[in-house]
Parts: sequence; C-alpha cells; structure tokens
Amino acid sequence: MPDLYPLIRPLLQALPAEAAHRLTIRALAWGLGPLVAGRGVPDPAILGQTLWSREFPNPVGIAAGFDKDAEVPDALLRLGCGFAETGTVTPRPQRGNPKPRLFRLREDRAVVNRLGFNSLGLEATLARLRVRPRAGIVGVNLGKNRDSTDPAADYLDGVRRVGTLADYFVINVSSPNTPGLRDLQHREILDDLLRQVVAVRDAVASGTPLLVKIAPDLTAGERADIAAVAGPSGIDGIIVGNTTVARPPELTSPLAGEQGGLSGKPLFAPSTTLLGEIYRLTGGKIPLVGAGGVASAADAYAKIRAGASLVQLYTALVFEGPALIGRIKRGLAELLRRDGFASIGDAVGVDSRESEGSAPLTGVSAAS
Ligand SMILES: Cc1cc2nc3c(=O)[nH]c(=O)nc-3n(C[C@H](O)[C@H](O)[C@H](O)COP(=O)(O)O)c2cc1C
Repeated sequence: MPDLYPLIRPLLQALPAEAAHRLTIRALAWGLGPLVAGRGVPDPAILGQTLWSREFPNPVGIAAGFDKDAEVPDALLRLGCGFAETGTVTPRPQRGNPKPRLFRLREDRAVVNRLGFNSLGLEATLARLRVRPRAGIVGVNLGKNRDSTDPAADYLDGVRRVGTLADYFVINVSSPNTPGLRDLQHREILDDLLRQVVAVRDAVASGTPLLVKIAPDLTAGERADIAAVAGPSGIDGIIVGNTTVARPPELTSPLAGEQGGLSGKPLFAPSTTLLGEIYRLTGGKIPLVGAGGVASAADAYAKIRAGASLVQLYTALVFEGPALIGRIKRGLAELLRRDGFASIGDAVGVDSRESEGSAPLTGVSAAS
C-alpha cells in the first residue's frame, strides 16, 4: 500500500496541534493506520530481541503521551512498531492545563507541550486494556494527579489496579508540567518510592518489568544519584528521557518561548549524551530505553550504540507520519549488518563502554 501521509499532512498541519492529534487518534481507531503507514512486512530477525523475558520483534516503540488513554495501542502496533506505551494515566480523571497547550515548532522539527497530564483516569484505561487482545507489547506509563497530596500512593494505586494488564510499567517522575513531579527524582525520595512500587509490583504482577522515566534536565549529582538507586531498588529499566525545559540557543521558531517541555530534533543530542552517561553510571547492567529526537535510522542506531536496548519516538511522527517507523527499521537493520553486528544486543552501548570486555546486560539475548 502506498504511503498516503504526504497527502494528509497539509490538512493535519492546518489544524491546531491538539485537534490534529485527536483526528489522528480517531483515524487510528477507525483502522486507517495502514493507509498512511504503507504495507507492513515482517521484521528481519536481526531486529528481534528478548528483554525481560519478552520478545520484541523490533526495538522501535511509540513513546508515552501519544496514546494517553489507551485508545489505540493495537493500532499503533499494527503500524509496525515493536511496542507501544500508553499513558501517562493518572488515578483519577483530570483535564490538564488550559488550551492552547501544544505547539509545533516547524522550523526546529520540535514540539512544546504543557498538557499537564490530561487523563481520562485509570478506570478508562483499564476498561480498554481488559478487552484488548494480548498480542504485542503494551506498556502503561503511570503518573500522579496534580492535586494529590501523596504521590507515592498514586503510583502504588496505578500498579495495583493495572496489575497483569500491562506488559511493562513506567513510573513517570519527569514530566515538566506537573508542579513538584520532578522533585521525586531526588535520591532519598526516589529510592523510597521505587522500593515501595517494586514491592507492590512483586505482589500483584510479579515478573512484569518496572521502568522509571527520567528527565534530561538533571544535574551531574542527580544523574549519579539516580544511577546509584536504580540497581538496589530492584527496577528493571530506565527510560532516558522525557521532554526538556531547556531551550537550546539554536531554536528559531517563534513559538520556542512557549512554556512547557520541548521534544524532537533539538532534544536528540542532549538526551543521547545523557543516555550514554546513564549507561556508564549503571555499568550497562540495567536495560535502557532511549527517547528524544529520534527521526531516522541513524538516530535510532546512535541511541542503541550509546546504550539503549530499545528506542521510542513521538515528535518525529508529527512531521514525518507513520511510514517513518518502517524506514527506521529498514535502515537500522542495514546499519547493524554494515557494522558486522549479528543482533541489536551486540550493538548496545558500544560507544559508551570505557574499556573492552564490559559485561553484557543480564537477561538480554537476541531472539532466534
Ligand atoms: C505532546 C506530547 C505529550 C507527551 N506526554 C507524555 C506523557 O504523558 N508521559 C510521558 O512520560 N512522556 C510524555 N511525552 C514525552 C515523550 O514520551 C518523549 O519522552 C519525548 O517527547 C521525547 O521523544 P521525542 O523527541 O521523540 O518526542 C510527551 C511528548 C509530547 C510531544
């Protein structure tokens, strides 16, 4: 099937950003995804990977925020991605910030959002997850309500209620649009939070991987603190990372000054540098997911070489459409073969290892 996205793009770009997003979700729910994504072909074996005892057909996933209320996770999987992440979902429904709150920075291939966890709440997500076919990997990204006075209780509530319906959990302590949320990344608070969440996960969904998603805007000390608590807390992975509150000087869009989290191309370099640093600080022992500005096979490959076992993207889809997923997968397979790697796992972290012979990640192997 041809890629029809170039025909639809002008219509979507003419709409306000949030209206365009709603229309995209509707179109996916109506089953129109393959029309714009082009024909799907089976993934080459070189892209397959077993992580946390789960078979990922390829390492390219959809980042949180695209499908906040789990409306279309299976339609996203049908676009050819290896996994999809729903959420951030909050325990109780909440509206988020006043509109407008989502801005395209066309000149910079970037987006600024200050959505503020608009969420239909856990009950709506659960209703949808209960009836979906359990094929393909769908993670659930959990947040806290803005007016919550006990953030830990919100995350524990999320893990308890989602239980075995998630293929993995993400504890999101890094969105910039919920006041106080990123303070949960401080060493003692994070250590305490993660230990509590791991205990509940062990009780209700033992074996379901639990990841924490961090911000790119961390001081050197905070980065070291997170790496130090990650292993002992018992979490299974780290997503590096969320949107940034920084505004790199190269931005040219008139909307660059809008308040909120910046994503897309300008985030690629800083988030990849942070990824490599977290890989080194954790000794390559905890699987990492690289997110931030992935818009090509070369970008995905760079994230993997920096230390990511999986990558995620969102903003590039806004500009390029869903056929990008197939292009990234094809190009990534070529780059791996070109450089003599037999699998994704062999390439993970090669640019971040300080010395030859670093231990490979535990629990990671190439799918046969
Ligand atoms: C509109 C929008 C909404 C987002 N909402 C969430 C969210 O609810 N939870 C979350 O963890 N990350 C959220 N993110 C961050 C993305 O998951 C991702 O980490 C970030 O955008 C970097 O990837 P990208 O440059 O490919 O977009 C959102 C991003 C965008 C652009």
